[in-house]
Amino acid sequence: MNLLVIGGGGREHAIAESIARSPRVSKVYCAPGNAGTAKVAENVPLSEGNLAALVAFAKEKKIDLTIVGPEAPLCEGIVDLFQAEGLRIFGPSKAAARIEGDKAYAKKLMKLAHVPTAEARIFHHHDQAYDYVSTRDTGVVVKAAGLAAGKGVIVCQDPAEALLALDRIMIDRDFGDAGNTVIVEEILKGPELSVHALVDGRTIYVLDSAQDHKALGEADTGPNTGGMGTYSPAPIATDEVLAMVERDVLVPIVDAMRQDDAPYRGVLYAGLMLTPAGPKVLEFNCRFGDPETQVLLARLESDLLDLIEATIDGKLAEADVRWNKNPAVCVVMASGGYPGIYHKGKQIQGLAEADAMSDVHVYHAGTKITGDQVMTNGGRVLGVTGLGPDIAAAKARAYQAVDMISFEDAYVRRDIADKAINETTA
Ligand code: AMP
Ligand code: GLY
Repeated sequence: MNLLVIGGGGREHAIAESIARSPRVSKVYCAPGNAGTAKVAENVPLSEGNLAALVAFAKEKKIDLTIVGPEAPLCEGIVDLFQAEGLRIFGPSKAAARIEGDKAYAKKLMKLAHVPTAEARIFHHHDQAYDYVSTRDTGVVVKAAGLAAGKGVIVCQDPAEALLALDRIMIDRDFGDAGNTVIVEEILKGPELSVHALVDGRTIYVLDSAQDHKALGEADTGPNTGGMGTYSPAPIATDEVLAMVERDVLVPIVDAMRQDDAPYRGVLYAGLMLTPAGPKVLEFNCRFGDPETQVLLARLESDLLDLIEATIDGKLAEADVRWNKNPAVCVVMASGGYPGIYHKGKQIQGLAEADAMSDVHVYHAGTKITGDQVMTNGGRVLGVTGLGPDIAAAKARAYQAVDMISFEDAYVRRDIADKAINETTA
């Protein structure tokens, strides 16, 4: 089979590497890819947003299956476009991707389906949002309703901060049109958990758990990022918790989407907070998480291609999903300054040595090849992933590999997975 992976981050490197191992795959292309995908696939210089060119490429190269990594093309309707041309593609339709692309829609659907989530109000006008926030005497979370690369959520400790957040989103338009509508919601407290499920329209298969660290700074301080590191499995995701998430969150939302003429097919990712009153949804994503995918696929022993095809064909009920019991920890090496302004084009050293270590995967994200050198090319540069017999060993392995790699101004959180280690030993 000829496969095309769309995207150029760490998630797509992990996906490309995983499917390239499938005995049924003869050729993998990645658009646009990065220096890591170049080792397992042929990179194609087409951006993820150039939908027409991607369709033309898939036809020309007789691509048997396309796998979409990022949310933007899904929300733009890439799946509908490919299917209209008779091309096989993995991911939700434009209508179903609204579960991520439009947080106001997601909120309304959750209310309708009685899915536990933060109490929220939706505003289309700055003055109405401003009046509402002014009457509050507690902190709130202000969210841009549209896509903002994981950065459009501002947790505000008091109303004054919330008014500033409203200005940033609706007046300064820091996130562009994503801020045409805002959600103002109550602050939830508790540990966070990401749950990924494969959904074939009807059947839900909950994958092993993975935990992200979204804040830039150690001890979860500083601004939110796309994710600074992950571990899998998450000790807080007990069988009981996962069963509750499936019953109270996934089943009702998947049913509601089917009834709303937006049946869900693809990866559904629920970002949750485990509150004293049970799990509540912070957000839904319509694709694999990044860097959650890196730890999940480092542990997946089954053939990813088989699982993807079972999802497309409505045969998930028969799927065989096997995991390496050993935990994995992924540490993101970022460019200094991210998620704000940062420099690109710094030479990366030590990659081959780190990659050669056993139980280590060096997933590339913002990297590119210049001549025979690998250079930084984005905010999140690498997702260095280690496996070990327990989470502390996996963490140690990941940081051993991190310490072999260097580039100017590299930034790394040193406490990835400490939460899990503390929970395990508590
Ligand atoms: P989201 O993109 O909606 O997952 O939000 C990004 C991050 O903001 C989450 O991972 C949480 O840490 C935080 N967050 C979002 N919504 C809430 C909420 N209602 N209460 C507390 N924290 C939140
Ligand atoms: N790591 C968070 C996300 O992919 O949305």
